[in-house]
Amino acid sequence: MAEFQIRRDDFTKHRVTEAASTETGSELADGAIRVKIERFAFTANNITYAVTGDRLGYWQFFPPGGEDTDGWGMMPVWGFAEVIESKAPDVPVGDRLFGYFPPADFLDMMPTRVTDQRIIDGAAHRAKLPPAYNSYSRVNAEPGYDSGMDNLRMLLWPLHITSFCLWDALQDKDWYGAKQVVIVSASSKTSIGLAYALDDDATAPPAIAITSKRNLDFVKKLKLYEQSVTYETLDEIDATIPTVIVDMSGNREVLGRLHACLGDNMKRCINVGLTHWDDKKAGNGLIAERSEIFFAPSHIQQRLKDWGPDGFAEKTASFMHKTAAKSQSWLQLRKIDGLTGLADVYGDVCAGRIGADQGLIIEL
Ligand SMILES: NC(=O)c1ccc[n+]([C@@H]2O[C@H](COP(=O)([O-])OP(=O)(O)OC[C@H]3O[C@@H](n4cnc5c(N)ncnc54)[C@H](OP(=O)(O)O)[C@@H]3O)[C@@H](O)[C@H]2O)c1
Repeated sequence: MAEFQIRRDDFTKHRVTEAASTETGSELADGAIRVKIERFAFTANNITYAVTGDRLGYWQFFPPGGEDTDGWGMMPVWGFAEVIESKAPDVPVGDRLFGYFPPADFLDMMPTRVTDQRIIDGAAHRAKLPPAYNSYSRVNAEPGYDSGMDNLRMLLWPLHITSFCLWDALQDKDWYGAKQVVIVSASSKTSIGLAYALDDDATAPPAIAITSKRNLDFVKKLKLYEQSVTYETLDEIDATIPTVIVDMSGNREVLGRLHACLGDNMKRCINVGLTHWDDKKAGNGLIAERSEIFFAPSHIQQRLKDWGPDGFAEKTASFMHKTAAKSQSWLQLRKIDGLTGLADVYGDVCAGRIGADQGLIIEL
């Protein structure tokens, strides 16, 4: 009955509360299920949910429970849960779900549009949020489901589905005429997923990495980037080549310098992430008119319409399978014990002190 809550106005402040919204003793509503969250992954992506919580509505998914919750919130996480109580006839106790959960022990959900493969949480407070986040896979019904892949799946799926979408969006636009793809914050898992996609596509321009000094060796060893430079040496990138930038950092000072360096050869800048959320310097030199924000759930919605759910699943499944297999050559899964264990490492995740080769798995 514990929750990991953070201050909405200063998400570096956190607490683990014992009195949660979902008490195991409380009455379950008709049609609802109660799940026990088993495990979830934790990366810079979850910190970005907090950074953009007000702007993009992430606080609305999982309102905190207990007393004195004013100003507190929970950032969503990706993980697995088991149904422990059910008043939904089609979703029995023992069913297991993969999807979006709070960092907490339990969650009450209202299954709607139930199929053998998935449910949608139809809870009223989630109705206006992006549909991709309200959909849960019923993993026991998946053909060939292997629970041994759970950790890799919850860590990489939400990130590499974004990498796939980025590759798809770039090639759809014929790479914006660029002859190189510069990836900023190149050691992040979302960046590496994109670098895998580019590496696997003979028509794609080469990938160039920009990363921090401490992650440079790691990035070079991946052998996915044609050139790897640091934030301090980004002027070593050949500015005479038409370039598309994919940015996971949100670092305006770095992007300003990069745009200024490239000038007319900055064909497009795709703003994806905010790993450098605490960097508040101005972005002198930014070319705003050729920059755009990328939001994976919107791209997924579009492709679900274009390709249908089966077509989308088919195209993404083999990509995800391949990138998960490749990631095993460098990825170290690090198990963290419970929400108090998360509280111990949380400051390191916020400050970017977790090794780029680490994947945090919180076991409840
Ligand atoms: N728009 C979308 O739809 C979408 C979807 C998925 C992910 N994303 C975003 O993509 C970004 C990457 O997420 P991820 O989970 O793949 O990251 P991750 O694997 O946890 O990335 C870790 C890397 O981020 C950088 N970093 C993290 N915290 C930092 C800090 N406080 N200061 C400086 N550098 C820091 C470091 O890279 P360097 O040293 O290389 O800079 C670090 O190696 C996130 O912002 C995430 O929200 C966006």
